[in-house]
Amino acid sequence: MNTILAKLIFGAATFAVCGFSAVAESLRQTESFNSGWCFARFGLQADGSRLAEPGSASRLFTLTASSEETGKGNVAGLAMDGDPNMRWCASSAAGNQWLMIDLGGERTLARAEIAWETNSPDYRGVIEGSTDEKQWQPLPCAARFVRVRVTGVPPGQWASIREITLADAGGKAIENRLVQQPGAPQSPAFDDSAWRKLDVPHDWAIEGPFRYDLPGNTGKLPWQGIGWYRKHFTVSAADAGKRIGVEFDGAMANAQVWLNGEYVGGWPYGYQGFRLDLTDKIKFGAENVLAVRLDTEQWGSRWYPGAGIYRNVRLVKTEQVHVGQWGVFVTTPKISAVSGEAKVAVTVDNQGGKAALASVKTEIFEIGADDVVGKRVAVATSVEKEIGANGSETIDLAASLVKPKLWDIAAPNRYLARTTVSVGGKTVDVYDQPFGFRTIEFTHDNGFLLNGKRVPLYGTCNHHDLGALGAAVNQRATERELEILQSFGCNALRTSHNPPSPELLAAADKLGLMVMCEAFDCFLTAKTANDYACLYAEWHEKDLAAMVRHFRNHPSIILWSSGNEVDEQNHAEKFRLFRENTEIFHRLDPTRPATCGISAPKETAFSGVEKMVDVHGMNYAAGVYGGPDLYGKFLAHPGHEHLPGYSSESASTISSRGEYFFPGEPRTPWQVSSYDLQQPGWGSLPDAEFAALDKYPAIAGEFVWTGFDYLGEPTPFNSDATLLLNFHGDAQQRAEQEAELQRLNKNRPPARSSYFGIVDLAGFPKDRFYLYQARWRPDFPMAHILPHWNWSGREGQTTPVFVYTSGDEAELFLNGQSLGRKQKGSFEYRLSWNDVKYQPGELKVVAYKNGKEWASDRVQTTGEPARLALSADRPTIAADGADLSFITVRVEDQDGLTVPTANNKIKFTIEGAGEIIATDNGDATSFVSFQSRERPAFNGLALVIVRSKKGEPGAITVKAGSDGLGGEVVTLHAK
Ligand code: GAL
Repeated sequence: MNTILAKLIFGAATFAVCGFSAVAESLRQTESFNSGWCFARFGLQADGSRLAEPGSASRLFTLTASSEETGKGNVAGLAMDGDPNMRWCASSAAGNQWLMIDLGGERTLARAEIAWETNSPDYRGVIEGSTDEKQWQPLPCAARFVRVRVTGVPPGQWASIREITLADAGGKAIENRLVQQPGAPQSPAFDDSAWRKLDVPHDWAIEGPFRYDLPGNTGKLPWQGIGWYRKHFTVSAADAGKRIGVEFDGAMANAQVWLNGEYVGGWPYGYQGFRLDLTDKIKFGAENVLAVRLDTEQWGSRWYPGAGIYRNVRLVKTEQVHVGQWGVFVTTPKISAVSGEAKVAVTVDNQGGKAALASVKTEIFEIGADDVVGKRVAVATSVEKEIGANGSETIDLAASLVKPKLWDIAAPNRYLARTTVSVGGKTVDVYDQPFGFRTIEFTHDNGFLLNGKRVPLYGTCNHHDLGALGAAVNQRATERELEILQSFGCNALRTSHNPPSPELLAAADKLGLMVMCEAFDCFLTAKTANDYACLYAEWHEKDLAAMVRHFRNHPSIILWSSGNEVDEQNHAEKFRLFRENTEIFHRLDPTRPATCGISAPKETAFSGVEKMVDVHGMNYAAGVYGGPDLYGKFLAHPGHEHLPGYSSESASTISSRGEYFFPGEPRTPWQVSSYDLQQPGWGSLPDAEFAALDKYPAIAGEFVWTGFDYLGEPTPFNSDATLLLNFHGDAQQRAEQEAELQRLNKNRPPARSSYFGIVDLAGFPKDRFYLYQARWRPDFPMAHILPHWNWSGREGQTTPVFVYTSGDEAELFLNGQSLGRKQKGSFEYRLSWNDVKYQPGELKVVAYKNGKEWASDRVQTTGEPARLALSADRPTIAADGADLSFITVRVEDQDGLTVPTANNKIKFTIEGAGEIIATDNGDATSFVSFQSRERPAFNGLALVIVRSKKGEPGAITVKAGSDGLGGEVVTLHAK
């Protein structure tokens, strides 16, 4: 259930509106299970040291090797872990590789067998035993140490062993058992009094510290480790006889859960929501301990994944007969201007010991824009159906309503299906499910139709982190991101490359954004060690089912995506995997098309893989791996007559907010110029994608990489190994970076977050914001000039000026003098004055549309920093301990102009009913902790994020101060 739902159920006002009695409320109780956890971190610590996990299981024998392929996780121990899917691999092709087993004590060994990585007879090895590691002899023998010397490998292969099996004199296998140490945290008696007390959602890694030695790709944050969470709670004796379940919206990663010392289940994929039934192990009327173990050491990611119980948790109590998990599926097969039909499939579980005769009733209510349930507009009831003991049945209902209000991006109308389950005339469960009426259609000739009308997809891809807040989900932070995206015209989101939080989808429903909901970043072939490829074979069906069943009622979702640029796209014999996933989607939700983000479109748009999905998603079709006419070729290709296409990922243009570099002049290290002219080799400029889409409007639109900057993947400064590869298009910059790497002894770049965003990590618009706004909000009068106009020392030098406008022509003035009026040519999206000579003063642009004055903008040379100015996005917030206010701090000159180069250090303090939970400034190279209350401005701006305190209404005073600039205060109110 999402948070909106929780509000609908628990809001007293809502009940008054709906006329529901408190009896209905007590049948299904959903309690937040977020507060009062104890937490401790083991394994890898934030500083890189290790702390032994209490009571951890360890193997009896120790394995060492001449070398190990640690990057891919193929370490020595895996050669004797009882799992032939895991293997040891040497880290190079060098000869004389060996592997050694220490049995910890002497044993008689009769024989040993080796399962090499493949069956190739070219794999050869010598097995010997020793009691002292000095004298070696062939088996059988008595030995404490066993050594395998690898004497042959197939051509081009490395030494690699899946499993070594040892047998004793009696022929019995000698098992390398896992031994549980005493004192494990799952034990109810474990003493957690010294553990940290906290509430979830919690991301244990966002506190850092940023570490230079950690990979930039995952944000230079210490997210790998083993986290334990414990929660003590009581369940009233009066609840005996009920079903008790715990619901996690996601826990990163490899969750294992114990109740009162007994294992109750878990879920490995950290982005997936899951529910565990606790009933049989609960002590009613007494204290219970829930213990959760998370392991991100066994997880691999190409971006910052976060770590911990980073999404919401609930405890749900129901009667024995109740609506199953995600058990209401509403579809809207018939929609016309006069009427609509909602088909409601209700899955009722009977966990009681005897069969039950159940009937269901579903009432449909309107939901207002304020989340308040409005009037009842339809009702449907079923006949009774028998549900066997411990069985489950789906009961179908249909409700008609007059003139349904459609869910649309401009008017996102929602409805609530409130389902009541009765047994023998007695109500046993009430379950709320929001949904919407809308039609969607992807066409080959006319793009995407929402409610029958063509709506181009103005989409952005986004990773799940919330910037300075890390991965810990927060409803307001999520909504704010969506509001910022909408402000430049973004109307669609791609949840790259994993299932999103329920809060994101609830916000998309409410605000009117369309969603491409994605499952995975890889199938069977890994992109990084320990990534989803390890789980795919066993889990992908379960994960797809969980994602679809959880989210299929959201009107915002228009596409299910199985993945992103998975390696299988390049191998014809593996295309069936895409088809299988498409079929899984169809089975679980026949109302939405299936897709996949597929790169290298020159090949993959025609190879046959494009036909394995309903709608073909092309990544980077306008760049060098596609081309300006790729879409045309795709549309015209024989066999594609009915196949719709869109750009599932585009641009990857990179920039740092407020940084501008000129040829031959010094550049700020590790920043990227904001003239919006740089992209990695596979990407394209926004303009190239616009042109391709304008030329082929039958293509449904694009999802830009990315809306927001995100933690990790700081292309072009990923790491020293790949850094220079990013510059093959710009010889000068490549040479400069090479020199810089030399200067730094080839150290890693300090970058910890991406440069791809249209807005920066703090949510401040980069120049590109206005390039997209100009195109995506053509009716919104706007013009934007870049760069800033503080170029002291560059007087008389060439300083190109770009204007982004939703107009079609514009005139630029420097200190009142016209620099000419320019018109956008066909397939042109920015206006440029390339030979402007800098002189301080004012640049002004007047934009025109259809010959009429349309919008204007100006930038001025500012004075020195003189003061700070604070503005809160929301001056009043709820006193619920979760609501946030985002306060922007500007460094201004004495005339109130933001100084675009100011990097003054700012100190924050707070008093009253709130706390500062993070600060940021959007600088991708900053290693200042997000929790720090001191932070420099980055190019004039900084951000401070304030959270209310639960149950503490009142004033909140936030003060920002900086040496020489004095202090400034903003007052907020928690209500
Ligand atoms: C794409 C990939 C994204 C991201 C992006 C950066 O190829 O799908 O996940 O890595 O490149 O440009």
